[in-house]
Amino acid sequence: MRKIAIVGSGYVGLVTGTCLAELGHKVVCVDNNKSKIELLKKGQVPIYEPGLEALIRKNTRSKRLSFSTDLAGPTKASEIIFIAVNTPPKPDGSVDLYYVEAVAREIAQNMTSYKLIVDKSTVPVETAERVELTIKRNLKKNVPFDIASNPEFLREGSALDDTFHPDRIVIGVNSPKAEKMLKEIYSTIKAPVLVTDIKSAEIIKHASNSFLALKISFINAVANICEKSGANIVKVAEGMGLDKRIGKAFLNAGIGFGGSCFPKDLSGFLWISKKLGYDFKLLEVVKEINESQKHSFVKKIEDNIWILKDKTIAVLGLSFKPDTDDMRSAPSIDIIKMLVEQGAKVRAYDPVAMKRAKETMPSVYYARDAYDAVKNADCLAVVTEWDAFKRLDYKMIKKLMKSPTIIDGRNLLDPKTIKSLGFVYRAIGGWENSIF
Ligand code: UDX
Ligand code: UDX
Repeated sequence: MRKIAIVGSGYVGLVTGTCLAELGHKVVCVDNNKSKIELLKKGQVPIYEPGLEALIRKNTRSKRLSFSTDLAGPTKASEIIFIAVNTPPKPDGSVDLYYVEAVAREIAQNMTSYKLIVDKSTVPVETAERVELTIKRNLKKNVPFDIASNPEFLREGSALDDTFHPDRIVIGVNSPKAEKMLKEIYSTIKAPVLVTDIKSAEIIKHASNSFLALKISFINAVANICEKSGANIVKVAEGMGLDKRIGKAFLNAGIGFGGSCFPKDLSGFLWISKKLGYDFKLLEVVKEINESQKHSFVKKIEDNIWILKDKTIAVLGLSFKPDTDDMRSAPSIDIIKMLVEQGAKVRAYDPVAMKRAKETMPSVYYARDAYDAVKNADCLAVVTEWDAFKRLDYKMIKKLMKSPTIIDGRNLLDPKTIKSLGFVYRAIGGWENSIF
């Protein structure tokens, strides 16, 4: 059992802290957002993540998990401190490391004994070096410490499972003591542990997310060829994915990737590459393809219903992917903006993300349920592939709509069933023409 402080209790910090408590450690999750900590102390979770609330309650009850707005006390009391604050993108694509620096300074000022300071936030290579210097500069007494990088690979919606059953644990260290401590806290997790130097660990995170984004843009580009040639992207992806060297994951064509990581990490990796003297042009193209997917989706709606002005579009799904309420860089935001700019009225529905969506898009009509969303709609646009949307009563939906047109941006629905009900059905990469 180790005493651990997690600084930053957002998606990453809260999940990491809760899982470490579940593994038997004594964890305090720190955040400077008072209302967030108040909520957590009451056993309420500020984000939607399946299973998280129950696990937080369990570990709070057993006193392995606590919450605090104060960083000084937990710094003094803990042996290991994880930095998990947000690292937002700046307008030029670079990564804003203001919070990381601020936290490093505060940790340094409160250190009275050896600490292992671990960077969990996604940061550009060379950040740990900077954190180390910042700590040295701000130490009040000569206290020994180690720096490490331990990137997270959790996906929202399956964050707990990803943390307990990861494909790998990456540990970037420069001392045997730090390596031993980090290996020990994860010792009950069955996963390969890759020990590297700190810079390599930092790059592993940026390169992994950029590669996954590249896979998505690649399959989206192939989807466009499928559409133009009359092939079916789902079959093409299946055929490619069966090759173990390619793998079938992250080959779902659609309206492009969103979320708090891929867009930000792509830009961050591009920026640090440029700063280091390498122009990583490939990543620019990955971004361009991703943007164009949203435009071609809106164009598809337009091609089917002709004039968008004064038409009603039902948008099903708002979060950047299913099983989360996260709206950060959700493709739905750009898509709805384009529709509204052209004069369309949007009736939107999402099982959990509407509260968050209202913060970014206050003028949209938020429906009570999917059936309310489609009332009198000229077109139904599937934007997020929530499983529940597959099980809707499409006969009823057809009756409620003004004109039965579905544009499926996630290839979620079964073309044969939907078309047999009399819908005009268009999807991505020729999926609508599936004959098997
Ligand atoms: C963020 C980054 O987006 C991601 O790249 C990184 O890997 C980890 O941190 P996430 O956990 O989703 O991911 O961010 P967010 O939900 O914004 O949480 C960050 C938390 O840190 C917030 O609760 C914020 O209040 C807190 N914070 C921020 C502090 O406690 N102190 C600070 O100085 C700054
Ligand atoms: C991602 C990484 O997967 C995770 O390892 C990292 O720690 C954080 O960033 P997350 O952003 O939660 O996780 O979601 P992910 O499941 O990776 O999806 C990201 C986006 O890609 C979503 O918008 C999703 O709809 C899209 N996507 C994903 C596709 O369009 N096609 C796919 O095949 C897979």
